[in-house]
Amino acid sequence: METKIISGTEISTAIKDELKDELERLSITPTLAVVLVGDNQASKVYVSNKEKACHQIGIKSMSYTLPADSTQEDVLDLIEVLNADKNVDGILVQLPLPAHIDEHKVIQAIDETKDVDGFHLKNVGALLVGTDGFVSCTPAGIIELLKRSNIDVAGKKCVIVGRSNIVGKPMCQLLLRENATVVMCHSYTPSLKEETQQADIVVVATGKRNIVTGDMIKPGAVVIDVGINRDENGKLCGDVDFNSCQGIASWITPVPGGVGPMTIAMLMQNCVRAAKQRRI
Ligand code: GUN
Repeated sequence: METKIISGTEISTAIKDELKDELERLSITPTLAVVLVGDNQASKVYVSNKEKACHQIGIKSMSYTLPADSTQEDVLDLIEVLNADKNVDGILVQLPLPAHIDEHKVIQAIDETKDVDGFHLKNVGALLVGTDGFVSCTPAGIIELLKRSNIDVAGKKCVIVGRSNIVGKPMCQLLLRENATVVMCHSYTPSLKEETQQADIVVVATGKRNIVTGDMIKPGAVVIDVGINRDENGKLCGDVDFNSCQGIASWITPVPGGVGPMTIAMLMQNCVRAAKQRRI
């Protein structure tokens, strides 16, 4: 079987173009406040990519970089100012935060109508019960990848590997909403292979390189790789052994160029939505 590549790069470009057109039509310039605490190198790259995307589509990004030794109060004070600022549509606090800061407290301090990451309990709860709210960008981007590749989810068996709050758990809710049968796997799952071999769609988000290999995949399955790791040569790679899935999977997302760019496209979509809700 020929394994087709799902290009997140192409699909995210199409989405960003649509959003750019929409903002021009509406004549609005949303504002996103991006908060970075400390100097985590990966976080700096992610934040810079998000700001680049804002610039491309016509969103104003305001960057707030706080030193690593900032106190929790410093961060909460900034959030309070951004919450009150009528010109700010979206607030993004890049995670992880330095260990001495309570991530949960900071996220819950964000006004839920500006929570473009979809991490606030009100937005998490809305997803759970199926009411309107902001949805975490990476799982939202995966649904969009499947839809725009005409991959049907209803009635399919989906296996999610990894149960994080940012990806695995919201992914489960979104797939349920699309009428899939969902199995959650994690580090306590006795035989991961037994589970993944039964899946029509596998979503892997563990941060562990090569945790899923071709022999763990049912022929014809769709493989979505959320991981971003580096191999022994320093080259970017995912959680899935891409090469061993060739000829077995029907579709697969590459790393880089798969899920990553979709996370940013969905962040842009959430910012546009936040601005529309505030201004129109
Ligand atoms: N760190 C890793 N992924 C994310 C994300 O989607 N949003 C934020 N704010 N931080 C992250």
